[in-house]
Amino acid sequence: MTDAVLNHLTASNIFDLRGVVAVVTGGGSGIGLMISSTLVANGATVYIVGPKQADLDRFAHTYNEAASQDPRKGRMHGIEGDIRLKSEATRLAEEIGKREKYLTVLFNNAGVLQGSYEPPTEATAASYVASHFDRVTQENFNNVINTNSIGPYWLSFAFLPLLEKWKKSEDPATKKFLPQIIMTSSMNGWTKDSNTAGRSYPYMFSKSAIGHFTSSLAHELLPLGIRVNGIAPGLFVSQMSAPGMVDPVTGASHLPQGATFPLEVPAVLGSNRDMGSLALFLVANWFVNGETVLIDGGTLLKHPSSY
Ligand SMILES: NC(=O)c1ccc[n+]([C@@H]2O[C@H](COP(=O)([O-])OP(=O)(O)OC[C@H]3O[C@@H](n4cnc5c(N)ncnc54)[C@H](OP(=O)(O)O)[C@@H]3O)[C@@H](O)[C@H]2O)c1
Repeated sequence: MTDAVLNHLTASNIFDLRGVVAVVTGGGSGIGLMISSTLVANGATVYIVGPKQADLDRFAHTYNEAASQDPRKGRMHGIEGDIRLKSEATRLAEEIGKREKYLTVLFNNAGVLQGSYEPPTEATAASYVASHFDRVTQENFNNVINTNSIGPYWLSFAFLPLLEKWKKSEDPATKKFLPQIIMTSSMNGWTKDSNTAGRSYPYMFSKSAIGHFTSSLAHELLPLGIRVNGIAPGLFVSQMSAPGMVDPVTGASHLPQGATFPLEVPAVLGSNRDMGSLALFLVANWFVNGETVLIDGGTLLKHPSSY
């Protein structure tokens, strides 16, 4: 009796992702890799999307070799693609549709940070114009917003039919998880302190936009029973936050001994355990919808923000 009442509530049952099929854009590095490797560790089949097939294949090989020791682990596959483009969203959904019957979860995670200003040298209008206007290009805004906000729009709709197929399938695994789209937003969608955003206004604009898209798309998709949620990270070590620190074999980034970020983070830096456990929670949970979860070690408790 006790077993029957409690067994379905054990972590090993709730987070057993065997049968789950996931797509993680930018899943070969940084935060995306923290998510994709955690999903594989718990049994999912994961497609990582990025700009270079060779990089994706190398990282996938590393995790698949580790996973091959244990039949409960999943597998990672790389598919090259440029997530900014509508045509690529269609192609990626078609490509994955040829390999899989359905999709459980799409992580719109890939992102870029460009168009940073240098702090003004003095409190004059001329100095602010030189730092915030002259240094930042139209192309910076276009690229950041196309990657961080518009690409997820194309991908979310291009993958809807595969997410709907998960919901309609009779396969046992499909009864355990609900189809979902999960955006990687940022604390920078809410911050009022551009220092927390690498001093990039294009980046802050793009992250506010994806936050609004998360809740409005969740509303839009209610009739389909496909949930939409978001993850709003604070500082995590990645190619974006610590360029040049990527391990060529594992894809993971690490700060050199003693190095720190020029930004006050109350907690120790976020790890793959932190990001992975949040991803697991969102995939396994059925009731959270339209929500963006802040995971920043308390950074926005220190810096002005509203959310
Ligand atoms: N790290 C942080 O502190 C932090 C904080 C808040 C939010 N975030 C968000 O977390 C997400 C992941 O960033 P990250 O920090 O993990 O940085 P990252 O390591 O640079 O990861 C970004 C990933 O997106 C990929 N990508 C960029 N443009 C692409 C495109 N057009 N098509 C396909 N893939 C593309 C990159 O591929 P390549 O590397 O091959 O170019 C890379 O794999 C982003 O949305 C970022 O805004 C990060």
